[in-house]
Amino acid sequence: MNKETTLSNGLKITKAASSKINEVDFKNIDFGKIFTDHMFVCHYNNGKWQQPEIVPYGPIQLDPSARVFHYGQAVFEGMKAYKDNSGNTFLFRPDENFNRINKSSERLAMPAFPKEFFDTGLETLLDMDNEWIKPGMGNSLYIRPFVIATEASVMASEANSYTFYIICSPAQAYYEGEVDVLIADFFSRSASGGIGYAKAAGNYAAQFYPTNLAKEKGYDQIIWTDSSSHKYIEEAGTMNIFFRINDTLLTAPTSERILDGITRKSILDLANKEGFNVEVRNIEVTEIIKAAENGNLKEVFGAGTAAVVSVIKGIGFKDKHYKVPVLQDGYAQHFKKSLTNIQYNLAEDSFGWRVKV
Ligand code: COI
Repeated sequence: MNKETTLSNGLKITKAASSKINEVDFKNIDFGKIFTDHMFVCHYNNGKWQQPEIVPYGPIQLDPSARVFHYGQAVFEGMKAYKDNSGNTFLFRPDENFNRINKSSERLAMPAFPKEFFDTGLETLLDMDNEWIKPGMGNSLYIRPFVIATEASVMASEANSYTFYIICSPAQAYYEGEVDVLIADFFSRSASGGIGYAKAAGNYAAQFYPTNLAKEKGYDQIIWTDSSSHKYIEEAGTMNIFFRINDTLLTAPTSERILDGITRKSILDLANKEGFNVEVRNIEVTEIIKAAENGNLKEVFGAGTAAVVSVIKGIGFKDKHYKVPVLQDGYAQHFKKSLTNIQYNLAEDSFGWRVKV
């Protein structure tokens, strides 16, 4: 491929003059800090997505009045590519991410992105930066598609121009070890009629301050509860959350306030297929606390693309801390193994989730 090429599908490619890959210590990767050599870019203006491009990864230039800076018109996705031991590359349920980013965009009054551009752009990007995807359980390439409002204007209304990007970052674990979480009894992540179900940038920014307060108390994350009563468990912000009470696996239903997590729904499908006792229903905070007190709370874990399955070792609620068992052969480890075995092409994929690229 020449430095600059246009593929038959119209995708324009400009290759990086040199690769940064030799500067990376792939054995010690901090989540989300290193990016591959290229990125996908597609501008929207005059009511239309323009011809997409892949260009060297690097800073972008925006007018200081671009609306993303002022009104937070921005959405994103998180997905991963995996490599098996024979060097084949796979995505996990990529259509789910594609559909969700367009759902998020719709809620933020942004235009839907064409599937063909997403599929060919992502496939070509993964092909160009394939060396960055390392084989071996735990290694992956975290893929971050995102859309921002670029129109130069501080008018408080939706923009007329946007850019869709895809950037990629080699990844290992998101959380090191097990985490402690604090149940929210004052702050809220989302409200009915709001944007909780969307992967909107602002949903995350709004969590930083309360999460910092929780960190001061020794917690890693917050378990969000419903904003009107704080009685019901919702999600953990960067993960959906599962409880095991005795042998029953419990999680809250998704709603307009809760992100429809792809890892969450995959775990539910696996659990149902394997005959686990599963309940998807409203979960009262008091029910979890009671179960922790009487020893029926056997496990708690979060599930998300970045975190995969993250074991929760303790829960805080109103100045009390409740220890949660950490089981070596519990449900969390079981679902993590089943999921990652499918993702890394180590097990049969009866659901058809794995997509070879
Ligand atoms: C993901 O799991 O992809 C997320 O969105 C979490 C992210 C905020 C790191």
